[in-house]
Amino acid sequence: MKIKTICCIGAGYVGGPTMAVIAKQCPYIEVTVVDINESRIAAWNSKNLDELPIFEPGLADIVKETRGKNLFFSTDIDKAIDEAEMIFISVNTPTKTYGKGKGMAADLKYIELCARQIAKVAKQDKIVVEKSTLPVRTASAIKSILDNTGNGVKFQILSNPEFLAEGTAVQDLLNPDRVLIGGDTSTKEGEIAVQALVGIYSNWVPKDKILTTNVWSSELSKLTANAFLAQRVSSINAMSEICEKTGADIKEVSKAIGMDSRIGSKFLNASVGFGGSCFQKDILNLVYIAKSYGLNKVADYWEQVIIMNDHQKNRFSDNIVSTLYNTVSGKKITFLGWAFKKDTNDTRESPAIKVADNLLSEQAKIAVFDPKVTEERIYADLEYLNSRSPKENKDLLKVCLDPYEACKESHAIAILTEWDEFKNYNWKQVYDNMQKPAFIFDGRGILDKKTLEEIGFTYYKIGSGN
Ligand code: NAD
Ligand code: UGA
Repeated sequence: MKIKTICCIGAGYVGGPTMAVIAKQCPYIEVTVVDINESRIAAWNSKNLDELPIFEPGLADIVKETRGKNLFFSTDIDKAIDEAEMIFISVNTPTKTYGKGKGMAADLKYIELCARQIAKVAKQDKIVVEKSTLPVRTASAIKSILDNTGNGVKFQILSNPEFLAEGTAVQDLLNPDRVLIGGDTSTKEGEIAVQALVGIYSNWVPKDKILTTNVWSSELSKLTANAFLAQRVSSINAMSEICEKTGADIKEVSKAIGMDSRIGSKFLNASVGFGGSCFQKDILNLVYIAKSYGLNKVADYWEQVIIMNDHQKNRFSDNIVSTLYNTVSGKKITFLGWAFKKDTNDTRESPAIKVADNLLSEQAKIAVFDPKVTEERIYADLEYLNSRSPKENKDLLKVCLDPYEACKESHAIAILTEWDEFKNYNWKQVYDNMQKPAFIFDGRGILDKKTLEEIGFTYYKIGSGN
């Protein structure tokens, strides 16, 4: 079966880039990405490619090449479902904020709404692909909804979790480490569906990197991969605190252990904590799943990854307060970076938000500069926490469009995101315009200690005891 029409429900960080790359690599497939969010779809359709809703290196070029040819963005969800042979569900699956499992379980209401809409609209057989990250065994719930509320047509459910990381999404999609496809290959129809999806990816992904498994293994592998990655960050961050007490240097320790081929060198950068929309939510989901099977020791084991991450963020702000003579009240502190990592405008769960909230509670005055994050986003992130009124947030925190302006007159600079441009600033000029003593708290370990100390800064780097 050669697929010629695809619909993707959800035009977010995953749906947009994933479908743009499929459209580019498979010119014979018509891909329509749909969303209930009208302004997001309008942004995907905007003439000015700088206004796409998501910033990812290389993405605008692909959208330019494919949009209007075989890639379409639309709010007409029913039409796109009706016309597609294969439907990807790529909607958000946030942590539940109410009821049973509040603060832990994945909220599957958006997934269920999609399943019900597909069931209502579909008048021909469809292959439904779970692209969103889902708790293990969600496919059976989707199948039940489709089979019980549909028009008598047949549905095959596949799991095809996405492993792209933000900031490198296009490269990750073009050269994935692997593509994972879970399906029910015990039936002929299930096997045909799996092969149909394999057929799409084989247009550019080598066959040996396309892995097929049963549906439950595929769903669980996605949560497992994120849990392992986050665990590495929490492990190295735990060691960073020991380094600070002992005079060891976390960069040297990371290098030394990373050269062991069994450990590997990736994901060993100590930081102010991991952020992003998924690590925390997926681990909490895993913890919830373990608890729901009565596996309390397993649940406790994974929960520690989150506990360590929260500790790392709090410890960073505590260190700023104690270093600035135990009070930051009325002092200006400049944040360089607000995004959860470089090369993205995404701020979901960014450690900057928690660090700012802690310092604002101490009555600090914060100036923020981030090359890609908007003022509106920064205030919305703070308002979401509900720690103080929106007016107080605006009074205490200012967003600057120029980094030198942001640093002027400040008592301390905190590096929250590892944007490359921060390394090349004229640090002498920054120093000259700051209050003295001038402090830098490098939460990403990206600046050169020797150079900064020679200029006159008091420089604190995460994980460095010297
Ligand atoms: P997102 O919030 O950026 O996008 C989801 C979109 O789905 C939103 O635009 C929303 O309006 C839309 N939507 C929700 N319900 C809808 C409905 N019923 N009909 C139509 N549209 C609807 O989310 P995202 O970051 O793209 O993540 C999507 C999924 O992919 C999540 O499960 C996430 O865990 C997973 N994932 C994300 C990443 C990442 O880097 N962000 C990577 C891998 C996997
Ligand atoms: C992560 C995974 O890497 C993807 O494979 C996965 O698809 C995705 O989550 C998801 O499911 O959403 P992402 O969150 O975009 O991708 O970015 P990462 O590069 O994993 O970084 C996550 C956080 O960890 C960032 O805040 C980053 O700064 C931090 N990090 C990462 C460190 O502090 N140290 C490291 O060594 C690596």
